Amino acid sequence: MDRLEITGGVPLEGEILISGAKNAALPILAATLLSESPVLLENVPSLNDVMTTIKLLRSMGAEITLHDGWKLEIDPRTTTEYVAPYELVKTMRASVLVLGPLLGRYGRADVSLPGGCAIGARPVNLHVAGLKSLGAEISIEGGYIHARAEQLRGTRLTLDSVTVTGTENLMMAAVLAKGETVIENAALEPEVLDLATFLVQMGAKIEGAGTGTIHIQGVDNLQGTPYTILPDRIEAGTHLLAGAITGGHVRVKQVRPSNLDAVLRKLEQAGARIECGSNWVDLDMAGERPRAVNLSTAPYPGFPTDLQAQFCALNSIASGTGKIVETVFESRFQHTLELQRMGANIGIRGNTAVSKGVDRLKGAPVMATDLRASASLVLAGLAAAGTTVIERIYHIDRGYECIEEKLAQLGARIRRLPI
Ligand code: EPU
Repeated sequence: MDRLEITGGVPLEGEILISGAKNAALPILAATLLSESPVLLENVPSLNDVMTTIKLLRSMGAEITLHDGWKLEIDPRTTTEYVAPYELVKTMRASVLVLGPLLGRYGRADVSLPGGCAIGARPVNLHVAGLKSLGAEISIEGGYIHARAEQLRGTRLTLDSVTVTGTENLMMAAVLAKGETVIENAALEPEVLDLATFLVQMGAKIEGAGTGTIHIQGVDNLQGTPYTILPDRIEAGTHLLAGAITGGHVRVKQVRPSNLDAVLRKLEQAGARIECGSNWVDLDMAGERPRAVNLSTAPYPGFPTDLQAQFCALNSIASGTGKIVETVFESRFQHTLELQRMGANIGIRGNTAVSKGVDRLKGAPVMATDLRASASLVLAGLAAAGTTVIERIYHIDRGYECIEEKLAQLGARIRRLPI
């Protein structure tokens, strides 16, 4: 298993291009199953989770061609299997996103239950309940969700709590259902809107995506389209934080600044000077120590849980004391234990992490426990004195394209140690 070695203390400077969003690419790849003709996707990020999804679609019979620059041509017409096996779902829970499209298009799906993960229980009860309301018969046996439906029927769904992939799964199931579906308390994340935009381009009738109420009028079929995936706001945020934690000056390009509002406000509170253009964000922290910030994670447009761990790293070397409350997932603080091994002073009580900033972290061998936890350890390593070696970085390869190359472009002393 590869490791990352980082020698910290270099203020990062320069500009980098941000890749397509993982959490938009995954549902959009799943949605290609709905199409009756080939789809061409651009700005697909080169990530392990995308590779897993390609493997999953191929295992169902879809033909996928990878062109230069990670353009993907997907022909779903050869799909003959409607199964997401445990072997793939266990490595990537987002595989559950094929449930809605398979059921809507082919009337059947057998999808392994994802089970718990490093950041919490993460049940899929709301996905299942919504599909049942749309008329599916669902049984759970042998660790699999078995779903069947001759024809889904539009209905009014009110989600008990906000769920991103739940909203996406139900939207994908509803686009070919008979009649109108209304999803209330829908997730507002930009990735949900990106999926809806893609579906509309394929011929779906969807209104209100990106708001709490989505109206979907079922259509008879969807056709392939070229589509460019939205930029990754979490990757952008992580690299801006790399600039902030090292007292550097970083510009991220090919982004949508408006999707980063809550994050940019917190970076400004931390003392960064932020400037935005139509598709770039510039962060200048040159030579300054960040100030600790208080924040509470929340569904979009609130502060994203996927940048919580990275702000924990920032608070650990900031001046003052910062309080971070995690409200989306129940156990997303594993990174704090590793940060403590680097000298951070963080106390956890329930869903709250209180960090009293230390002058300097010290490099140490640490272990990545999940994707965003890994990113926080990379940031800590960039700021720390000495050398940090991060193990189990397969987590980071799931969601960050060429992280060591992009950071090296900003001047970081970072290298991958293959084993
Ligand atoms: N929940 C339920 N029942 C459900 C669905 C969700 O109780 O049926 C709960 C979850 O346990 C959690 C909360 O609702 O406490 C929110 O979970 P959500 O369903 O919104 O999360 P998700 O759809 O599984 C997506 C992203 C995550 C991101 C969350 C929150 C994808 C593929 N994943 O997960 O991304 O953290 O939304 O924004 O879109 C990551 O990229 O590192 C990552 C974990």
